[in-house]
Amino acid sequence: MGKKIAIDGPAGAGKSTIARLVAGKLSFIYVDTGAMYRAIALYFIRQGADGSDTGMIKEKCREAEVSIRYENQEQEVYLNGERVTPFLRTGEVSRMASCCSAVAEVRSHLLDLQRGLAREYNVVMDGRDIGTTILPDAEVKIFLTASVEVRAKRRYLELLEKGEPCDLEQIKAEISERDERDRTRAASPLVKAEDAILVDSSDMTIDETANKILEIVLEQMGCK
Ligand code: DC
Repeated sequence: MGKKIAIDGPAGAGKSTIARLVAGKLSFIYVDTGAMYRAIALYFIRQGADGSDTGMIKEKCREAEVSIRYENQEQEVYLNGERVTPFLRTGEVSRMASCCSAVAEVRSHLLDLQRGLAREYNVVMDGRDIGTTILPDAEVKIFLTASVEVRAKRRYLELLEKGEPCDLEQIKAEISERDERDRTRAASPLVKAEDAILVDSSDMTIDETANKILEIVLEQMGCK
C-alpha cells in the first residue's frame, strides 16, 4: 500500500490545482477522481441519455470501462480504450457527471479503480468521498472549501481567459446547484470526514493554499 493523501471538497475550491502541486512537490501521483465520473458522463451523453435517465445509468454503467494511465506524470483517462481526457471539461459533462455520480452503482463501479491506484502508488487523490469512503485510512485528509462567490468568480475568470462566453450569476447558480446535489445525495454525499482538516481558501492565493496544505501534510506524516 502506498502513502495516501485525500483532498475532498466542493466544485471550484481549487482541489485539482492544489492536489497537482502537492503531488508534484512530494513526487506522488495525482489522482483526479472527478475525471473518472466525467468519463462515465461522457459515455452516457454519447448514448443520448440525460441526467434523469437514472435507470439506464444504473443498468449500463458497467459497459463504460474507465482506466487511467500516467503519461509524462499526467493522468490520462481512457473510456473503453479511447483516450477521452480532452473531452471531459465541458459544462455539459459537468452537469451529467453530477447526476451520474449520485448513482450508487456508478460509485461502486469506480471504487476498485480508485483503491487500486492507491495500492500501487503514493497518491494525492482528490474528490468528494476520498477521506470518508474510498481511503478512510489515508495518512492525511484535507477538506478544501471556499465560499460560493469566490468559487464562481474563479471559474468565471478561468472561462474568460479561455475566451469562452460566460455569465457570473449563471456560474454561481450552477455551482450552488451542483453543491446541493453532491451534498444531499444518498450515495457517499460530500461531507467532511471527522478526521479531515478544514482549509478555507476563500482569502488565499493558490500558492498560499498549496503551502498551507503542504505544511499540514508534512506535519501529519511526521516529516516536520
Ligand atoms: O471534481 P469534478 O468537478 O471533476 O467532479 C465531477 C463530478 O463528479 C462532481 O459533480 C462531483 C462528482 N464526484 C464525486 O461524486 N465523487 C468524487 N470522488 C469525485 C467527483
